[in-house]
Amino acid sequence: MDGPEKQDYWDDIFRSINKSEYYDKNLSSEVLDLVKLIKTGNAVLDLGCGMGRFDIYLSERGFDVTAIDISETAVKCINSECRKRSISINVKQQDLCDFQFDRKYDLILAHGSLQFLPRSCWTRLIGDMKDNTNVGGLNYVVVFSDMIPTPPDMEDLMGDLFREGELFEIYEDWEILVQESFVKEDEHPGNIRHQHPINKLIARKK
Ligand SMILES: C[S@@+](CC[C@H](N)C(=O)[O-])C[C@H]1O[C@@H](n2cnc3c(N)ncnc32)[C@H](O)[C@@H]1O
Repeated sequence: MDGPEKQDYWDDIFRSINKSEYYDKNLSSEVLDLVKLIKTGNAVLDLGCGMGRFDIYLSERGFDVTAIDISETAVKCINSECRKRSISINVKQQDLCDFQFDRKYDLILAHGSLQFLPRSCWTRLIGDMKDNTNVGGLNYVVVFSDMIPTPPDMEDLMGDLFREGELFEIYEDWEILVQESFVKEDEHPGNIRHQHPINKLIARKK
């Protein structure tokens, strides 16, 4: 798949999601815990934000949120939800491979997005994420590892998987708060079931 086809794929996924309950039902418990580790008003960046399930929550609690995603549909959803809730998120439609930092953040999220990029791109991006996190700030990164091969129907969409455990090695010079490796069962529209090998990390910059 080329860039525009990938964008179409994600646009279709987000169009199929029922928005009415999405924002109240789709928060990960880690984000609830993360909020306790940073100060209200801190700057948050979400790379590959999807429909912004974390961003709406964080913005409503007073964080200064920037969110990036390739999907125009997802970006429109976030903007519309912001209007409904009278909050403001700096949301931008962009390919993460083109994203350049122009400031530092206290919390950077990349939840389920980096493995859709080529290795050269996510290597550069993680380096920039680390450099552009304030001392004491956090990175929350969830990626697919190569512990299980990519399902055939996702091969075209996938970029480069992380080697199992590679993510944890990249953050060896940070304080690791959460390091988990597990297999997640996902059910996609059309009764398609996948197993995804997950490496999850929350780390604090020393
Ligand atoms: C599995 S979803 C995760 C979404 C969100 N982080 C969450 O946890 O709900 C992966 C996201 O990565 C985005 N994505 C994939 N490739 C991308 C790219 N090259 N540039 C920007 N976003 C991308 C997709 O549009 C999608 O929103």
